[in-house]
Amino acid sequence: MMEIIRIPRIMQETSRHYITKSKKLGFVPTMGALHEGHLSLVRRAKDENDLVVVSIFLNPKQFGANEDLSYYPKPIESDIEKLQSINTDILFLPETSFIYPTNFCTYITVQNLSDKLCGPFRPGHFTGVTTVVCKLLNMVMPSRLYLGQKDYQQLLIIKRMVEDLNIPVEIIPCRTIREKDGLAMSSRNSYLKSKERLSATVIYKTLSYLSNLIVEKKIPCHEVKGKMKEMLLNEPLIEEIQYASIYDPETLDELDNYKKVNLLAVALKIGNTRLIDNMIVEINSVVV
Ligand code: PAJ
Repeated sequence: MMEIIRIPRIMQETSRHYITKSKKLGFVPTMGALHEGHLSLVRRAKDENDLVVVSIFLNPKQFGANEDLSYYPKPIESDIEKLQSINTDILFLPETSFIYPTNFCTYITVQNLSDKLCGPFRPGHFTGVTTVVCKLLNMVMPSRLYLGQKDYQQLLIIKRMVEDLNIPVEIIPCRTIREKDGLAMSSRNSYLKSKERLSATVIYKTLSYLSNLIVEKKIPCHEVKGKMKEMLLNEPLIEEIQYASIYDPETLDELDNYKKVNLLAVALKIGNTRLIDNMIVEINSVVV
């Protein structure tokens, strides 16, 4: 049976109990509205550890004033069923007031990386993420933390925080799970109307097409951004491209020349729905 814990202090006591028994805890933090992407992280954590803890916490501090906090899906009953069906050991389901009591005033910001890519479009977002993830790590005290590459910038920022603050946890990056037509799974995909859902497939098509051109050395680095934007804008329902280009996967700076490992990343809006996706592209020789 899955245990549901709602109180941070009880979560800590429970974790401490298992840690003294030398049990390895794998941890998957989520905001709920669980899909196969989330569940793939939970399955992997289950495989690689003695116990898996999943948290569901819709963290208000990582949403901007005009963002989708109020209408973010909250299907808690079906989330619980999904977690039970894959033998999750513990669900940590805290109330907002337990995470952020009224006198709360400590924030964690990872400088530089938080200002890149999504940073300018979502002011304060990554500070909200790093603050809550640091708190959750202090409550769950896991050996391993499972994070999706779908949110590549978030993964990189949390890695930096864990290293900078000497948090004793191993980070396990997990590959992006996609729908059959390539669209990266996301709790936000449910916002898409059927025509929008169809046009969203252009994101994966563009990333794969560019990735192949790059690997086959058929496009110089400085033409990648233009080609990506051209392909995306061919889709009439895509009005706003926030960024789409090729980046250094460590610094997130835009690249003028290929590296051995490159990051294609995109953020755009279809209607009111903001979608992000990315692809790592490795090349053998960096001469094009
Ligand atoms: P959420 O968007 O619910 O995602 C939880 C975890 O699932 C993240 O590590 C995310 O990268 C991963 N994930 C989402 N879609 C995925 C997909 N299609 N394939 C593989 N993994 C996927 O990310 C957050 O919540 C929050 O910012 C959080 C880290 C929980 C802090 O509040």
